[in-house]
Amino acid sequence: MIRVDSRTRLCCLLGDPVTHSVSPQMHNAAFSHLELNFCYMAFRVVRRELPSAVEGVRALGIRGFNVTVPHKVEIIPLLDEVDETARKISAVNTVLNKDGRLIGFNTDGAGFIKAVGEDRIRGKNAVMIGAGGAARAIAFSLAGRCRSLTILNRTSRKAVALAGEVERTTGCRIMGLGLSSEEAGEALRRCELLINSTIVGMYPDVSRTIIDNNLINPGMVVFDAVFNPAETRLLREARLRGAYTVSGLEMLVHQGAEAFKIWTGAEPPLEVMREAAVGALKSYGTGEA
Ligand code: ATR
Repeated sequence: MIRVDSRTRLCCLLGDPVTHSVSPQMHNAAFSHLELNFCYMAFRVVRRELPSAVEGVRALGIRGFNVTVPHKVEIIPLLDEVDETARKISAVNTVLNKDGRLIGFNTDGAGFIKAVGEDRIRGKNAVMIGAGGAARAIAFSLAGRCRSLTILNRTSRKAVALAGEVERTTGCRIMGLGLSSEEAGEALRRCELLINSTIVGMYPDVSRTIIDNNLINPGMVVFDAVFNPAETRLLREARLRGAYTVSGLEMLVHQGAEAFKIWTGAEPPLEVMREAAVGALKSYGTGEA
C-alpha cells in the first residue's frame, strides 16, 4: 500500500487523453513493492496548458513526469536540458526534476531494445511498418544496430521523410517506401526482424492485421508496438507460423522501468510492473491481456 505523507515525492503523467494510461498502476505498484515514498498520478493537460503545467511541476517540486501524446515534441523548449538520445529523436517521454532543473529523456527507444533484446536486432535485415509518433524512437534505436532498415508506410512520403531524417542524424542507410509498393514486397521477403508501429490491430479493431501472414516465416522476429491486446492478430499468426514474437506490452513495461530508474535511482521490479500493467488493461475493460 502506498502511504502518502508530507515527504511523499510525486511523479506524474502529462498528456491528453490520459484516462487509459497504465502508468499510474505500473509505477505505484513498483513504488509500493520497493517501499519507496513516491506516488504517481495522471494529469490531463490540454495543449495550451502545457507551459503552465510545466511551471506547476517546477513550483511544486514534482520529482519527474512522463510525457505522452500530444506533448512529446512541444515539451522540448520548456525544459532546461535534453539528453542526447531524446535530442536525436526530437521527442521526450520522461522528465527528471533535478534540483529545479528539468531534464528530458526518451526511454521509448531503450524500452524497445530491452523488449526485443540486442541479440535479436544486431545484424538483422529489419522492416518497420508505420512512420507515425510510435515509429520515431524505434527507428532511431534500430539505426546502427540492424544491418538494414526499411520503413514502409501507407502514406509513402511519411516513410521517406522519417527514413531521410534518421539517415541524416545517424549516418545509417535507411529506405523509406510505400507499404503497397513493389519494393516493399522485396524488403519483406528479405526481412528477419519485422516491426509494426502502426495502430492496426489495436483494440477495438482486433481482427485486423498489417500484413498477409504468408509473408511471415519461422525464422523471423516479429514485434508489435500495439499493447492492447497484448497478443495482436499479427503476433498470433506469427507465433503460429513459428516466428519469435514480442508484444508491445514489453516495450511499455521497459520504457516505464527506465523512467522509474531515472526518478528513483532504484532497480525497477519488472515482474511487478508487468503484472500491474496487465491488471490495468483488464480493469479498463479493454484488455484481454
Ligand atoms: P502513433 O503516435 O500511435 O504512431 P500516428 O502518429 O497517428 O499514431 O501514426 C499512426 C501510424 O499508423 C501511421 O504510420 C499510419 O499511416 P499513415 O501515415 O499512412 O496514416 C498508420 N496507420 C493507421 N491506420 C492504418 C491503416 N489502416 N493501414 C496502414 N497504416 C495505418
